[in-house]
Amino acid sequence: MAATIAELMETLPYGPAPEAAGPAHDWLAAHDGRFGLLIGGVWTATDDARLFESFNPATARPLARITQATGADVDTAVDAATTAFASWSALPGHARARHLYALGRAVQRHSRLFAVIESLDNGKPIRETRDIDIPLVARHFYHHAGWAQLLDSEFPGYTPLGVAGQIIPWNFPLLMLSWKIAPALAAGNTVVLKPAEWTSLTALLFGEICIEAGLPPGVVNIVTGDGKVGEAIVTHPGVAKIAFTGSTEVGRRIRTLTAGTGKGLSLELGGKSPFIVFADADLDSAVEGVVDAIWFNQGQVCCAGSRLLVQEGIADAMIAKLRARMERLRVGDPLDKAVDIGAIVAPRQLERITQLVQQSADEGAQVWQPSWSCPQEGWFYPPTLLTDVAPASTAAQIEIFGPVLALMTFRTPDEAVALANNTRYGLAASVWSENISLALDVARRVLAGVIWINGTNMFDAAAGFGGYRESGFGREGGREGLVEYLRAPQPPTALPVATHDAPAAHSNGQIDRTYKVFVGGKQARPDSGYSRVVLNDDGDVIGTAAEGNRKDIRNAVEAARTAAASWSAGTGHGRAQVVYYLAENLSARADLFVQLLQETGASAVSARAEVDHTIAALFTWAAWADKYDGALHHTSARTLTLAVPEALGVLGIIAPDAAPLAALVTLVAAAIAQGNSVVAVPGERGALLAFEFALLCESSDLPAGVVSIVSGPRAALTKTLAEHNDVDGLWYAAEDDGAAAAERASAGNLKRTWVIAPRGWHTVGNAPEFLRRATQWKNIWAPYGA
Ligand code: NAI
Repeated sequence: MAATIAELMETLPYGPAPEAAGPAHDWLAAHDGRFGLLIGGVWTATDDARLFESFNPATARPLARITQATGADVDTAVDAATTAFASWSALPGHARARHLYALGRAVQRHSRLFAVIESLDNGKPIRETRDIDIPLVARHFYHHAGWAQLLDSEFPGYTPLGVAGQIIPWNFPLLMLSWKIAPALAAGNTVVLKPAEWTSLTALLFGEICIEAGLPPGVVNIVTGDGKVGEAIVTHPGVAKIAFTGSTEVGRRIRTLTAGTGKGLSLELGGKSPFIVFADADLDSAVEGVVDAIWFNQGQVCCAGSRLLVQEGIADAMIAKLRARMERLRVGDPLDKAVDIGAIVAPRQLERITQLVQQSADEGAQVWQPSWSCPQEGWFYPPTLLTDVAPASTAAQIEIFGPVLALMTFRTPDEAVALANNTRYGLAASVWSENISLALDVARRVLAGVIWINGTNMFDAAAGFGGYRESGFGREGGREGLVEYLRAPQPPTALPVATHDAPAAHSNGQIDRTYKVFVGGKQARPDSGYSRVVLNDDGDVIGTAAEGNRKDIRNAVEAARTAAASWSAGTGHGRAQVVYYLAENLSARADLFVQLLQETGASAVSARAEVDHTIAALFTWAAWADKYDGALHHTSARTLTLAVPEALGVLGIIAPDAAPLAALVTLVAAAIAQGNSVVAVPGERGALLAFEFALLCESSDLPAGVVSIVSGPRAALTKTLAEHNDVDGLWYAAEDDGAAAAERASAGNLKRTWVIAPRGWHTVGNAPEFLRRATQWKNIWAPYGA
């Protein structure tokens, strides 16, 4: 008997509401289900021997066959992109803007086809592809059409890098494509892009649309295949920039492979993002937030809120509400418009999720899943809540990348921050509280590139997206993202070059000075107990410097870490005062530094010029300490999206031999003025000067540990700094060829490295690059509405 309306109102069951897949299947059929590569504006012929299958995760049946590209294909694609670069980069910004605009229009024209193909190929619900992914793709092209138009006026002197190699994952196939291609093209680069092997179809449709929209051949090339194809792009000498989104493991490998090549690199890697709910939060909104945080795209989201941190007093209520909500979630056919959770992308991913949940259970976590079961056909996994999760356990530390939420509790805001930061990642965080002071305080203290207050998973082309720590570096979106595709203007080489006329006589006969290392605000004898003789260019002995070793570096890093929290949390004004004071004290002792510089071989004139330059540089960085402003991005309506530059943390600096005072002090001052703590290794001839500078630090109100200076064997000290997991960034400015080893060694915790060209440390005209390198952007999204 049919149910009465009254009965239906009781249960409110959903009927099926499938989106028609006909046009998508027609498109596949028109290609005979086989796809070649887009190289130089032409599709390559398909070759049966090189085709592999792409599956529909909701049915586990094949959808299409895709080409496994070869190294030779990658060579041809890079050649095509190189040829196209000459004319594409020479186009006026307005002409490129028209092309990007045309791409945005074309995406909108085919939006439903894109949405359906994406759902078929990836398994994500049509509601998401139709209402989130594809509109954001179009938005990215429009936004970056604007950047192409404004490039010359907003980035004077900046130039495109060349061919950008772009490797994207399977969780947001077309969206990640647009995040990569739109800024690259706007900045005047050309592209070789590799989609993920499980989800290449929308990239191939996009390739067709590039042709349809009249994009010049070779500007966008699309090569498909597995990680080997990605690696061929990464190691290709004709590629100037690598942009990668994917696992931290592969990101680390790419860091290693590109070390010392000078290629630009941006990495958007994994996460284990906290979703922090304070007792005063609107609990029902927070529950809906959790749904969006961890069940959006089946939890296969790098910034998924996979760790639910709940204040103790409301934990039981939160768990009860969550379970009730989970019971009503619908898992099933991604093309059904009333489905909340679609299919998992591939069996390998499903096995990984299953295995990690089992492991969590074995470690003591309680596993809760709704009473209903998932469809039998296809690759599905139910929404899952883990409680009794220990902070160091698998569930709390490992990126599961599935619909699995790990719940932990905290008592105080300090505990919440400590728990939130208890991970090697730092991609995103959500903070839920009706107390805006508390929410903003936590937002500033959580180490992550994106913070959503009373919200989650908000994205926009105008805001920067990217991580802290092992979530990678570089940003995508907005001005912060665009600059990743540009080369900064080269700084002038203004400083007089040292010559050998009239070096000052070494102060023989004076009381001998003992040069030590400067660690944690104190002069200390080096751990090795050794000193080394410092010679000038003529081979004359000018003194003995401490021979620092690993232990001294470790002590210095420890001191820097201790100092970092309060130094970075202080005001720019406060830091400016200290840097000005350094300048004042250097000025008072200018004659001493002139003499020391002369002893290294500089002429009287160039020594004086170097000291003057150094004082000016200190003034410059003191000036910038409170002027590197953030921004308010134009993202969604009724959201304040604040872009805030924050310090990297602990920075290692390897100074050059040339201009030993000016270079060292410029680098150190630029870093500390933005709130970093520094461990610096001076150039060999500059060791004595560096120690005198350390004494200036001691007498200039610089808190202990903010600057440490350890002289000694450069390669060994660099290695210790680069490998140290508590060092966040490394600037390598030495003239030798040690940068490659330094970058390779920095891959462990994915340090932000900056290899500085000879004389590239000059402050004059180079401030934007210094400021960018000394900081990382945090985007804080704060929705409002009464
Ligand atoms: P993956 O990092 O292997 O794949 C991402 C992309 O990198 C794909 O296009 C792949 O073909 C390519 N790739 C693989 N090896 C490469 C290499 N050696 N050189 C250059 N490119 C290479 O990620 P996978 O194996 O698909 O997923 C494993 C885990 O990674 C997931 O469970 C998840 O935890 C994480 N992941 C994170 C993503 C994110 O958005 N941050 C996206 C995808 C995966």
